[in-house]
Amino acid sequence: MQLETGNVVSHDSEGTLYRVLTLELPNISSNAVPGQFVHLRVSALQDAVLRRPFSIYRVDGKNLSILYKNVGRGTSSMCTLRPGDAVNVLGPLGNGFPTAVSSGKFPVLVAGGYGVAPLYFLATRLPVKGVLFVGGARARDILLNDRFKALGWNVCIATEDGSLGTRGRVTEPFDAWIQSLGGDAKPEIFACGPNGMLKALCDRARQGGWNAWISLDRHMGCGVGACLACIQRVVMEGQEVLVRVCKEGPVFESRTIVWEDGNHEA
Ligand SMILES: Cc1cc2nc3c(=O)[nH]c(=O)nc-3n(C[C@H](O)[C@H](O)[C@H](O)COP(=O)(O)OP(=O)(O)OC[C@H]3O[C@@H](n4cnc5c(N)ncnc54)[C@H](O)[C@@H]3O)c2cc1C
Ligand code: FES
Repeated sequence: MQLETGNVVSHDSEGTLYRVLTLELPNISSNAVPGQFVHLRVSALQDAVLRRPFSIYRVDGKNLSILYKNVGRGTSSMCTLRPGDAVNVLGPLGNGFPTAVSSGKFPVLVAGGYGVAPLYFLATRLPVKGVLFVGGARARDILLNDRFKALGWNVCIATEDGSLGTRGRVTEPFDAWIQSLGGDAKPEIFACGPNGMLKALCDRARQGGWNAWISLDRHMGCGVGACLACIQRVVMEGQEVLVRVCKEGPVFESRTIVWEDGNHEA
């Protein structure tokens, strides 16, 4: 983990709702693995919590990019950043996804919203190309699909209003694809998105006996394991324990996650 101040290299729109912020951060970039995040200091914030967490979307040499949506005070202030501005960043933080696929397994990425960001970084590093299932409320919520295709990944899109891809939730084309394979499905799942989607995938992974690597999103304070703002219940060695999503996560094997209704695979 490094504390590094880097200049803004570029700051561009991605679709109508998102922006890509690229910073020159040679030290953090050289150590980053997919699924890790950075904690970015937002200079306009006066609160106790001055930083905001964002998944690492891309690393290109000494440049690191995040893909973010303006949802509140911190991100709205970030929208004003211009090339040359200095930004203080802590990272890379958290554990990250495995960057290998188990023998005989086929990589399946499942994303909702900005969940495409860490999965794109992962897609650039996995040795085997597979399929991305990406879902959102409307066409404008579907990001980066052309970039995944350019890497050689198949992309299946679902939107709740049917404006792009299949109408409905992203689990619908996922289920249809699994069914089309009969009993031969051997997916290894990597997922990032809203809790409802992640829980639905954990249920399917449990029923199918598949490995699934789930990146959890929790409100964070310190980002480095000190404040306990991001606690999650998991099962380790047969015991339920509390862990910190920022430190022991954000990526967990699906069998270990205890959801609020108490479901997990023992
Ligand atoms: C590990 C991790 C990775 C993340 N990666 C990305 C990313 O790649 N791109 C991206 O756009 N966002 C990402 N987020 C969410 C991002 O951190 C929040 O959107 C941001 O902190 C909001 O700050 P704000 O000051 O603008 O909003 P605030 O004014 O603090 O809050 C505005 C609204 O956003 C909600 N919010 C705040 N934090 C979160 C959160 N963690 N999850 C869901 N809702 C939240 C609040 O409840 C509130 O409704 C990530 C969060 C985590 C924990
Ligand atoms: S955010 Fe402080 S312990 Fe995780």
